[in-house]
Amino acid sequence: VSAPSLDLLRTRALARRLEAVLNVSDARAAARRTLPKALFEYVDGGAEDELTLARNERAFHDLTFRPRMGLINAEPKLGTTVLGTPVSMPVLTAPCGGMRLVHPDGDMGVARAAAAAGTIPVVPAAAGVSLEEVAARVPAGPRWFQLYRFHDPKLMAGLVERAQAAGYQAMVMTMDTVVPGNREQDRRNGFSYNMRINARSAVRQAPRLARHPAWLSRFVRDGMPFELANIAGPDGQRMALPAMSRMAADSQSPTWDDVEWVRDRFHGPVVVKGILTADDARRAVNAGAVAVIVSNHGGRQLDGAPATIDVLPEIVAAVGPDVAVLLDSGVRRGNDVLKALAQGARAVLIGRAAAWGLAIGGQAGVERMLDIMRAQILRSMRLMGLTDVCELNAAWVERSR
Ligand SMILES: Cc1cc2nc3c(=O)[nH]c(=O)nc-3n(C[C@H](O)[C@H](O)[C@H](O)COP(=O)(O)O)c2cc1C
Repeated sequence: VSAPSLDLLRTRALARRLEAVLNVSDARAAARRTLPKALFEYVDGGAEDELTLARNERAFHDLTFRPRMGLINAEPKLGTTVLGTPVSMPVLTAPCGGMRLVHPDGDMGVARAAAAAGTIPVVPAAAGVSLEEVAARVPAGPRWFQLYRFHDPKLMAGLVERAQAAGYQAMVMTMDTVVPGNREQDRRNGFSYNMRINARSAVRQAPRLARHPAWLSRFVRDGMPFELANIAGPDGQRMALPAMSRMAADSQSPTWDDVEWVRDRFHGPVVVKGILTADDARRAVNAGAVAVIVSNHGGRQLDGAPATIDVLPEIVAAVGPDVAVLLDSGVRRGNDVLKALAQGARAVLIGRAAAWGLAIGGQAGVERMLDIMRAQILRSMRLMGLTDVCELNAAWVERSR
């Protein structure tokens, strides 16, 4: 079989596999088969007893819709604007580190899929490809950059300047990673801060990795990219994910002064991610944020943190209509998106849903996840009698008894 037809066969097989994936939970199951256990659990897992992880999803289930009949015939509108930028649907991709380990398409694949879907990717600092490369190779369109607080102001200032120069429109400052969350299964799996990832440890892991031949061959062909493309250590060398997390843990916690510091350097909107109380939302706005992301990091940081959909209404009420409130953590269905918007969110972000899509099909897998979300939102809007996502408000949902 000649090379081009082999490619064609592969593309067709992938398309068939993706067609069989009907929802996010199918994608998760397929990702579990595709990825080595440690990597699947790195993406999937939450902190400690995973109470917040479970609560994130359950809290969406506890809301029910108040549908209306006999109202519409036309195709509902699900486009909206976020910070003035039009998006084709109210779903952005969340910043997730380590995505190039999941699939060689990595951060590029997520960003390209988001662009293809007409929405905004939030590109993580902990990306496997440089922020400039993403900017150069993703079709023109809006994109945001996510920043952590690093110990080294030079590193932070450099990232802010580079993101500015590369045309990222907004800077997302993550506040909930004072220390890394206690994800015990990562430690059990050796996916931890002391992990030595190099060719030798890869050889040692070989028997386990061999159970996932498709992933392994892609990973090896990609040159086993453990390094983070944006982050250089004190020695000037690019760092690997665990080393970066350790460095972040060694540095001072992010404070509101850091948000002001970013606001003074970045010529564009600053968004604060990781807000869970009305007070903090107000503080974020006072420090210069024009939008906040209500997030518990997908249950990966403080176990026992509340579900984001539960605290969303008090945060929306606290900041008022001029501040955009976004939400992530636990969004698995189009219905979750509609519930978040009904509770006052401008849009949501998906983390794991995109990562599982990436695991099973690279960029095409993320596109499939976004297509599924879009189709689910549209169908539910018709069933609810809703013509435009912008009409959603608290009258459309109630807490189930
Ligand atoms: C594998 C993984 C890596 C993540 N890395 C980052 C990161 O580098 N920066 C960040 O702000 N959030 C990070 N997050 C959190 C996501 O941005 C987002 O808040 C979370 O995934 C939302 O929950 P969901 O996965 O239930 O959609 C990560 C999440 C996952 C699953």
